[in-house]
Amino acid sequence: MSELAAPFPDASGPMRALGRVTLPDPKATAALAERIGAVVGAGDVLLLSGGLGSGKTHFARALIQSRQAKVGAAEEVPSPSFTLVQTYQAGELEIWHADLYRLGGPDEALELGLDEAFQTALCLIEWPDVLAGHWPEGAVRLTFAMDAEREGVREIALYAEPGADLANRLLPLMAAA
Ligand SMILES: Nc1ncnc2c1ncn2[C@@H]1O[C@H](COP(=O)(O)OP(=O)(O)OP(=O)(O)O)[C@@H](O)[C@H]1O
Ligand SMILES: [Mg+2]
Repeated sequence: MSELAAPFPDASGPMRALGRVTLPDPKATAALAERIGAVVGAGDVLLLSGGLGSGKTHFARALIQSRQAKVGAAEEVPSPSFTLVQTYQAGELEIWHADLYRLGGPDEALELGLDEAFQTALCLIEWPDVLAGHWPEGAVRLTFAMDAEREGVREIALYAEPGADLANRLLPLMAAA
């Protein structure tokens, strides 16, 4: 598996690579997102890293739409590349979907209100590196890598502090994609 498209920060900070899974096509990525969506809630933060077009928005869209479908809601989920943040409601659950690619620094990101959202909403954050050092405790990082030889194949790796509650919920799902 090529990791060209995504830096893998194996040794940065307290996060460690805890699991990884190969996803043969977009449907497999959406299915993993749906399974993960079923076990996350308010106060959980998923940091979605990986190169352009590696599948971060595809994953977030599937997760958001699956949570909405459970409560009979259905919304378009456009990429937040230009709006920076899109918010959604899935019943009681507020979901923030952000893309920090265009931001200059952590201050700009925090001005969006992310700090509070980290506590009160489910947060899906694309291009989270600008916030490095300000990632909330307990956040989990999913890195998306494209396969150089096989079109449509992605590998998602899960990085977290060993023992983090959210990581413990996600790990069993990574094995069963
Ligand atoms: N296994 C796969 N998982 C996810 N997406 C895939 C897969 N195979 C192919 N794709 C395609 O790759 C593209 C991923 O686009 P997406 O917008 O999700 O990328 P992104 O990581 O959010 O990029 P950006 O950094 O520009 O925001 C989609 O067109 C999707 O259909
Ligand atoms: Mg995107």
